[in-house]
Amino acid sequence: MSALEKPVRTMDEAFERLLDEDTHKENISDALRRNNPMPPGPTLVPVARYTDRRYHELEREKLWKKSWLMACHEDDFEHVGDCVPYDVAGLSFLIVRSEEDEYKAFYNACLHRGRKLREDRAKGLDELRCPFHGWAWNLDGSLKQIPCAYDYQGLNRDEESLPEVQVGRWGRFIFINADPDAESLEDFLGDLSSHFELLPYERRYKSAHVAKIIKANWKVVQEAFMESYHVLMTHPQILTGGAHDICTKYDAFGNYSRAIRCGALEGNGLPPWEPLPSEKGMEIVRHPLNGDVYEHLGDGVVLLTKKDGRTGKFDVDAKHIEGEITDANPHLCNWVGGLQLNNPGQGRILSSDTKRKAQAEAGGGKNMSARAMGAEMQRQMLADVVPSIADTIPDIELTASVFFTVFPNWHPWGCFNQINYRFRPNGDNHEECIMECMYLTPIPEDGEYEPVREIHWLTAEDDYTEASELGQLTKIFNQDLRNLPYVYDGLKATAREHVRLADYNELKLRHWHEMYEKQVGDS
Ligand code: FES
Ligand SMILES: [Fe+2]
Repeated sequence: MSALEKPVRTMDEAFERLLDEDTHKENISDALRRNNPMPPGPTLVPVARYTDRRYHELEREKLWKKSWLMACHEDDFEHVGDCVPYDVAGLSFLIVRSEEDEYKAFYNACLHRGRKLREDRAKGLDELRCPFHGWAWNLDGSLKQIPCAYDYQGLNRDEESLPEVQVGRWGRFIFINADPDAESLEDFLGDLSSHFELLPYERRYKSAHVAKIIKANWKVVQEAFMESYHVLMTHPQILTGGAHDICTKYDAFGNYSRAIRCGALEGNGLPPWEPLPSEKGMEIVRHPLNGDVYEHLGDGVVLLTKKDGRTGKFDVDAKHIEGEITDANPHLCNWVGGLQLNNPGQGRILSSDTKRKAQAEAGGGKNMSARAMGAEMQRQMLADVVPSIADTIPDIELTASVFFTVFPNWHPWGCFNQINYRFRPNGDNHEECIMECMYLTPIPEDGEYEPVREIHWLTAEDDYTEASELGQLTKIFNQDLRNLPYVYDGLKATAREHVRLADYNELKLRHWHEMYEKQVGDS
């Protein structure tokens, strides 16, 4: 048997055991039980695919003009006449709510001399009027008015409607596709809906939307949010929840892939450590594998204490200041010593008071596993929001992180996690990208909610914690940002022509590149 024929180690059996222990296993969906790991290899991706502008040009023609793209969400449009531009790789589209339940998407360019029709979102328009010379179209794209029309001899008004691109809708998201011959969105997504039966996206609203510029090619950044392998080094503080690499199950289906990070697997081999003083809150943390303690002493100085008592002091970027220990994990220095959230409770569905109450009730005298207890707490919290289903939800749906990648750039999360990501080049610059994080929160069954309709923009220099509406996730993002521009710099500096992907832990990336190669080609 050659190396390439060796079976890939998967999480399938461990995951089955986990499902068998579920306190609500009769309600586990078929979709969660579906296995589809990829066979091993090919694992090499050309470095030029990230760094060479030639690929950016190819992507514009073969990817961005030819794919179903999640462009916006119904919550972006309060009224008929609201419109949202969607820009990607130098292309621009304008999505318009043309009637109560009808959306149109146009090339965002005037038919006179080409000015973009709208560069920003707009509300309640009754026409699309070009700001240059004033040509105007109705919301359905038909020509409304040409100032000094006498000057366009022979112009046929019927041929001057705004060119449209295809629109598709799924789960209150609005997708566009500039390829008139593309398969329908329904066919493209296939059985994606089967993974969201318990809480379909139709029953979620947009409660946060943050966009950040990052100085790296968009694929570099996207790929950092498609695997759990980097958690070991980059986010070790969350390993206490069991988010170890071996605790993530990966599968690929049709045009999308899935990771299930199980979290809180018992007996995952982590040593039991004494608790740290709680009064320091987020400013002290222990590396759960090696026992190193990182403590913020104030003014951005971080004290690292080894298990044997040796110490070193560092700044938040892990630059050594003094002491016998001279090397530190930059992600943990940033975690304890970097900017902290003003209000870390924001971004959660429910208050910490509710959580404490639920915790007390869940633990009340019962002999429950940590996973079952965590799930029960969540059930009790959700009983305030979605009472009709809260009691039926299996443990796995409440304790795992399930993150999908729908080709090419949309990442909806499953179960009761609110996260949705979207990644794309920053305009026509292939060396920068826009990372967007949206929260899609369960619509309360009493029907009262106020969606977010604007994007909170952060520059490349802004600290993620400025987006306090995302809560503690921003501290995790700051750790990712300590890698991403440097990944891109490294790719430009490397002596190698390829990067290497793991067969299983980077299965989602392999699946994505397989689709990319089919659609974009390799040269
Ligand atoms: S470019 Fe739009 S009206 Fe002239
Ligand atoms: Fe990360």
